[in-house]
Amino acid sequence: MLFRSTVEADLDRLLGCVIDEPVSWSHPDRLLTFLEDGQYRHDRIWIAEDEDEDKILARAVWWAFPGAAKPLALDCLYVHPSVEDRVGLAAELLTRAHEAFGDAPDYHVFLRNGWRDDPRAVAAVGWRREALARAGMRQELERLRYDWTAGSPVPEPPDRVVFRAEPDDEVFVDAFRRVAVGTLDHHTREALGRMEAEAQARDDVAGYREMPGDRSWWRLAYTPGGELIGLAVPSANNGGPVVGYVGVVPEQRGHGYIDDLLGEITRQHAERGAQRVVADTDTTNVPMARAFERAGYRNFAVRLVVSKA
Ligand SMILES: CC(C)(COP(=O)(O)OP(=O)(O)OC[C@H]1O[C@@H](n2cnc3c(N)ncnc32)[C@H](O)[C@@H]1OP(=O)(O)O)[C@@H](O)C(=O)NCCC(=O)NCCS
Repeated sequence: MLFRSTVEADLDRLLGCVIDEPVSWSHPDRLLTFLEDGQYRHDRIWIAEDEDEDKILARAVWWAFPGAAKPLALDCLYVHPSVEDRVGLAAELLTRAHEAFGDAPDYHVFLRNGWRDDPRAVAAVGWRREALARAGMRQELERLRYDWTAGSPVPEPPDRVVFRAEPDDEVFVDAFRRVAVGTLDHHTREALGRMEAEAQARDDVAGYREMPGDRSWWRLAYTPGGELIGLAVPSANNGGPVVGYVGVVPEQRGHGYIDDLLGEITRQHAERGAQRVVADTDTTNVPMARAFERAGYRNFAVRLVVSKA
């Protein structure tokens, strides 16, 4: 068995890897488009192949923003149906690639709502979960995916909140730091467990700056008296407009300000002609999930994220 990253000459065989389980995967259209625009790269696609038969027996595909210095997420894990020990083979493939990357990027898999009631989805997640665990990835997080589509109501600007653009990143660093206190968001809590609050806030600002959304869209929210309520950071990824980030400082929570902040983001995107705005939140971030539902966002899928731990 040979484990290696791929080259252009492997393309036909890569396109022949087909998954018919109910999980997201790098289907041929996605593979071709993403290889073309740089979200996928051959040195970030790994295969296990049977050298005698010239056959791909397993394939793992990592994703990143075009131009990113390292792979950011595992997008697809495939093992040929003829392989008896698919868990073992997938685990070995992942381990070899992680060694080459010097990192184990999170696995993001998109599933239908209620996937736990579908035995095929449970099985598809099950063997992948086992393979990832053997490669050192055991931490799981489930996020709800929401979307708003054009034609749904767009809220009027509120009287009780003043939104201001702020070109100084340092002011945003401070606001990100303040809204992170007492957050229910897993990623932020985990980061705060291993770094200083200010460093975590700087990472957030840098991360949103890297996204394709425009920095000039970012807003700070104040009361008419000038007290900070929180921040609204509309953004975009390669698929189009996203909510980005919203947060309310702890002393202003519980007054429904989240509806005003999310409304600002939806309104901005709608005014720019967005047809669809996408957002994710952890299943455990109940105030955020409720806010999406109140704002006319629809929960259309689940994102399961498996990380090293
Ligand atoms: C999520 C968030 C924006 C909600 O803001 P909000 O304006 O307080 O929301 P609501 O007023 O609708 O709050 C609804 C209820 O949840 C409670 N609540 C809100 N945030 C809470 C938190 N972080 N922890 C515990 N309870 C919280 C409120 O006190 C309120 O309780 P009540 O109904 O008993 O009065 C806010 O918690 C926050 O900024 N969190 C950190 C950043 C974050 O998670 N952003 C979303 C990332 S996807």
